[in-house]
Amino acid sequence: MQIIEPIADMRAWSEGERRQGRRIVFVPTMGSLHEGHLSLVRDAKSRGERVVVSIFVNPMQFGPSEDFAKYPRDLQRDRSMLESLGVDVLFHPTVGEIYPDGYQTHIEVENLSLPLCGAVRPGHFRGVATVVAKLFNIVQPHIAIFGEKDFQQLQIVRRLVRDLSMNIEIVGHPIVREADGLAMSSRNAYLTAEERRAAVCLSRALCKAEKLVRRGESSAAALLHLVTAEIAQESLAQIEYVKLCDVDSLQDVERVEGAAVLALAVRFGRARLIDNRVIKH
Ligand code: PAF
Repeated sequence: MQIIEPIADMRAWSEGERRQGRRIVFVPTMGSLHEGHLSLVRDAKSRGERVVVSIFVNPMQFGPSEDFAKYPRDLQRDRSMLESLGVDVLFHPTVGEIYPDGYQTHIEVENLSLPLCGAVRPGHFRGVATVVAKLFNIVQPHIAIFGEKDFQQLQIVRRLVRDLSMNIEIVGHPIVREADGLAMSSRNAYLTAEERRAAVCLSRALCKAEKLVRRGESSAAALLHLVTAEIAQESLAQIEYVKLCDVDSLQDVERVEGAAVLALAVRFGRARLIDNRVIKH
């Protein structure tokens, strides 16, 4: 596995592979890799001849009171995990090269960035969209894979690619869960043992809501009530939002008609966890 830091070297590598007709599949990450990321990488390997993984903790997507400085980083561990999966390139740019002095260009996917996490993390998706567009320009992949856990992020990236006429196929990869149902996340590392036990209520609540829909319920009020009540039973949980939204526009819906996404963000101590389920009626 090659480890590439300079943008020019990454670009040169990709141009060489493209000239030889190889398909480049890209998995952007912020490192601190877990089984969820590895599952994206395995998916990537099945879709093309070359796999590039980036590790870049992007300061632009963290708010001033968020965890940028403390975000878990372990490059040596990440590197050996990626090496053992047969990744071709680990792209690890510096903050200084991604955002040189005087940097002032941003990408804003306007409406999709407003609800859900966008409402509580102002500027977050502007930072995500900007860095993803830059990474796409540098890595020049044919395909890029994103986890569905960050459902809003995935929809924003799809919109960005369509709106800016980028020739990249975006693939969403299903949420990878721990044995008890907790969605895998680098931020699970912040949970104390007690919070970790409590956090299983998120996936349990989503499962219950899905079962209710299978039994014929479709009203948002009933589903949101069920999910909120299930999570509220855990005294360590502080709900940020629980919403039922249209899968494409992410606007609130009154009922599940066709498909809708049930999305939530809940704090457990220092950890802010998100989860979701696409529900079909
Ligand atoms: O999902 C993430 O890890 C990040 O938001 C991403 C897509 C790598 C952009 O920094």
